[in-house]
Parts: sequence; structure tokens; C-alpha cells
Amino acid sequence: MSRPYLKLKMENEQRLLAEIRAKEPRLTAFPPRCTFEISWRCNYRCKKCTYSKLTRPEGFSATNYPEWNWDDIERIAEEYFPTCRLTQSTLLGEPFLSPQLGNLMNLYRRFGVYYRPTTNGSLLTEDKLDTVNGVVDWLKCSFDGHTADLYERLHLNGNFAAVVRNLKTFSQYRRYMTPFPWFRIGMVLMRSNMNHLKEYADFVFQEIGVDEMEIMALNYANDQMTDEFYWDLEDDVNARLDELVEHCIDKKYRLRLPFARMPRMDGTWNGPTGRRRADEIARSQPAADNSGYEAYSEEVRVGDIFGNRQTLEKGYVWSNEMRISRIEGVDGSWVGICPALNRPFFKPPTVESDGKDWIKVESCGSCSTYVFGNLKERSFSDIYASPMYRQVRTFLYNRYDIPRDDWMIPCKHCLCVDPVYRYESNGVPNVGLRFFPGADLYRPPRNTFNQSGLLRRTWDYWRQHGFASTVRTAVRFIGDRYGRS
Ligand SMILES: C[S@@+](CC[C@H](N)C(=O)[O-])C[C@H]1O[C@@H](n2cnc3c(N)ncnc32)[C@H](O)[C@@H]1O
Ligand code: SF4
Ligand code: SF4
Repeated sequence: MSRPYLKLKMENEQRLLAEIRAKEPRLTAFPPRCTFEISWRCNYRCKKCTYSKLTRPEGFSATNYPEWNWDDIERIAEEYFPTCRLTQSTLLGEPFLSPQLGNLMNLYRRFGVYYRPTTNGSLLTEDKLDTVNGVVDWLKCSFDGHTADLYERLHLNGNFAAVVRNLKTFSQYRRYMTPFPWFRIGMVLMRSNMNHLKEYADFVFQEIGVDEMEIMALNYANDQMTDEFYWDLEDDVNARLDELVEHCIDKKYRLRLPFARMPRMDGTWNGPTGRRRADEIARSQPAADNSGYEAYSEEVRVGDIFGNRQTLEKGYVWSNEMRISRIEGVDGSWVGICPALNRPFFKPPTVESDGKDWIKVESCGSCSTYVFGNLKERSFSDIYASPMYRQVRTFLYNRYDIPRDDWMIPCKHCLCVDPVYRYESNGVPNVGLRFFPGADLYRPPRNTFNQSGLLRRTWDYWRQHGFASTVRTAVRFIGDRYGRS
């Protein structure tokens, strides 16, 4: 089957690579992928997610959250999709809840774009599979526990039996789909599930039939989930991960880890650093058998122009320390590739503090981030050429020569740059700051600072970690926000 616009997509990619290598602040080629999230509506309430916040009003449900209207979807697709290879949805919301799913998939077909959903699996019933056939080349299901008891403790209103049934059906049905979708299952590591990793791996590979298992690090999302944090258990986490790595290599299970080791809360290491351990795993494991995957899409098999495959890696086990990709500039220096360069984020509709409707273009998902512009008011090309986008690019091209303490605020704690799982990057202090056009990117924006929220979070942290640790973290947090002139 021919893929519409494929030649244009390939030419665009080559131009992008050349422009980034030349460190052009103004790019004419678009990124080959994007995070395209038309809604945050969701039928679930997971413990780790902001939707389970106790401060939500009684009877809260995210099932009716707003969604992009069709005119906006078509307008952005017509501008962005001809050169785009794939989109993903990763931040919040359940993609299979959208009433526009069928129309959306037809739009993707028209422009030859692949759709990569991250789903809770509850609505992934057989009837949806025909709708997404030919468009979904990769799917990830979030699944935090391999028994009904554990699953329903973490996915608060979830139904384990129904989800397992859907996932088994999807795994089987894939043989009728072209391309054959890659099937990843993802567990967010938490205190409740960290002692069951090997059993979880056996269940998802043997019972469900996934291609790959991912473990994700837990980010702070609400105060009620902080009892699932494991900042104080780094030795246990590292021991459990070591056991899992050995198990997966032995069984030939593909495993993606957020980090190969975790540091102590103060940033020091007990034993090798994550990067050293990642090198050790990469060196010592046997090469993976990557033959026989012809039915999967080229994007799954080969990855993108930045060498970022994310699926058929050289070995069975890989961690983010092995992945952070960089390319050589024409001047011989390195450019680290991150979502601001290869994957803009088009967000669901919001009303911002200026009282206007926004569809925000941001650089990245879960970290504190840059808001480059409003797609309700401007085209993507216009936003892509804006001074703020150019300023961020210029910084990214040069950041290896700048001491980290002098970086722009969001990049300073970003896991795309340095995958060390740290309290400062993933914990309570990293509540999503937003930098709008015109903001000073080196100072925290005052309008998003919420004092009572900060006091509440500090108290929560104090109760869990004690006085000394709270003071140390507070000093770092305040220094970060106010330390620059
Ligand atoms: C928020 S969900 C949205 C997609 C879909 N509703 C789902 O759960 O798969 C996107 C991903 O973020 C993960 N996630 C949710 N809350 C998280 C947290 N506090 N820390 C780390 N990952 C989280 C989910 O497990 C999922 O893989
Ligand atoms: S399914 Fe995803 S978006 Fe919905 S509550 Fe769970 S983590 Fe949040
Ligand atoms: S915070 Fe900086 S390094 Fe991280 S994804 Fe955004 S722009 Fe890239």
C-alpha cells in the first residue's frame, strides 16, 4: 500500500537534519513527529494521576473535558501532516474516548501519518481495531499491576479483567492489521508494585503477548500519591531493577527502563552511576534477535533521522541513559536532540489567564516548559518562526558549552537532557511552570507561583522525609527560583 506524501516527508527530514547541523535558529523544515493531543478527557482515575486529586470537586469526572473542534483539527493537519511521519498522545486523557476517532483516523490515512496512542486499554475493544487499522503502527497500554488486587489499587476505578481481555484481543488481532502494530506495555514504578517486577514481566509477555515492557519513573502529580514515591528507597529500587534486567535478558524480554540506577536523594550515588551501569548493561548483554519484524512499520524498525528507534534496540534491555541522542553539528560540536527540535506538542484546548481560548504549542510534555504560541490565533509556521522558538533553539545548539547552572529554567531539570531521576526533576518541586512568549526564560514566571500550594506540598514532604531533607530541598528550590538576577 502506498503511503501518501512519503517523498515530501523524506525530503523535509533531510532538510531538517541539515538545518539543525548548521545550527540555524530559524528552521524551514518541520519536525517529523509531534505530540498531538486533542483532548484530556478520560474515563479513569489513577492514583498516580492528577485526576485523582482529592481537591477535585465531588463526583469529578474528566469524561467531558473539551476537545479540539473539527475545523481546528483539519486546519492544523493540513499544515503539519504532509511532512509528518507520526503523532503520539502521551500526556493526559484516554484517546479511545474521542467521539471523533473515526474521522481522525481517516484524516491520518489521507496524509499518510501514523497514530501512536497511549491508552489505559479499557476501551480498546475489538470494534475499535478496524477503525485504527493501517494508522496505528505502535500502541502503548498503561498497566500498573499484574493482579486484580494491585491493578485496582492503583487504577482506582479500573477493571482488571476487562482490560486484560482487551489487551489479549489486541495482541491476537494484530495479525489482521497492516502495518502490524508494535505493542508496548508500560508500568509506572511505585512503592506498591516495585517488589513484583519479575512476575509482572512474565505475565505481560506470556499471558498478554506484548512486544516490549516499559517501566516509567513516577512524577509528582498530586499530594495523595506521594505515599507511592520511592526517593528514600534507592538501594531497593536499584536491586529490583538489577534483578529484572537479569530476568529479561535471560528470557529475551524487551525492556525499557527510565534509568539504569537511581541516585540518593542528595544526588550522590551508592555504587556506579546510572550512566556507568547503563554502559555495563549495554556491553554485557547479548545482541537481540531483530530479524522477522518486516510486518511492522519502517518507523518502528528503523526509527527516525536522529537514530531514535525506541523499539528494536541492539540488546533486549535499554534505558534512557542509552537513548539520549545527539548529532554532530557542521562545526564539530554536539547538538542534543530533544522535543523542541523533533517533536512539538499541540495541546488540548484551555482558557489561559488572558481569558482567551488557547491551543498551546509547547516543546515538551511533563517537564516545566515553553509555550511558543496559540494555534487558535496563528499558524504553526508563524509560531515556529517566532523569537521565542528561535531563542530556545539557539540555546539548545550551544548548551553543551554552558554550565548547567546557567541554563534556561525548564531545560535545567529536563530528563531529555540528563535522565537522572531526581527529586528536583520529578518530585514535588517540578510542578509544571509555563513560560509564555515574552517571558524571561531564566527566571521563574511569577504568575504561576502559588504560595498556598507550595506550603501544602512542603508540609507533605516534611511529613514524609523529615526536617533536614525538607530544608535541603527548600534551599535548592528557592535558589533555583530566585537565585538568578
Ligand atoms: C497520563 S497517561 C495518558 C494516556 C492514558 N490515559 C494512559 O493512562 O495510558 C500518559 C502516561 O503517563 C503515565 N503517568 C500518569 N501519571 C504519571 C505520573 N504521576 N508519573 C509518571 N507517569 C505517569 C501513564 O501511566 C501513561 O503511561
Ligand atoms: S488513564 Fe491516564 S489520563 Fe486517565 S487517570 Fe489514568 S493516568 Fe490519568
Ligand atoms: S525542557 Fe529544554 S531540553 Fe527539555 S525538552 Fe524542553 S526544550 Fe528540550
